Amino acid sequence: MNDTYAVEICPGDALAEGGRGVRFEVTIDGRAMPAFVVRYGGAVFGYLNQCAHVPMELDWQEGQFFEGSGLYLMCATHGAMYEPDTGHCVGGPCRGAWLCKLDVEERGEGAGAVVVWLPDERIRPPANPGAA
Ligand code: FES
Repeated sequence: MNDTYAVEICPGDALAEGGRGVRFEVTIDGRAMPAFVVRYGGAVFGYLNQCAHVPMELDWQEGQFFEGSGLYLMCATHGAMYEPDTGHCVGGPCRGAWLCKLDVEERGEGAGAVVVWLPDERIRPPANPGAA
């Protein structure tokens, strides 16, 4: 049976525009994978926290995914730049590649909830819900 599950990651107001993201984990094929959500252009977006170049986590400090301008997600290791809304790499060693995008939804305003949809119960709650 192919149920989908929506799991709450954090309150909506935990994600500032172009600011710190919230990390969480998904388990895929029995393996825990880091993931994150960020806010950009007023909407929320989520990705596996894995560079398309080499499978390393992107954030340079925990939850810091945006580069200085707040316009791009940047991999701390070798500087790949990704569009926050599409996950498309527009600069760096993996230009043209894509982050693995998650199905994210925001419910309600302000202290509403950011939820991630997965095709089954492979998701775990964030270690630190609401961390900003
Ligand atoms: S590991 Fe991310 S740019 Fe190379």
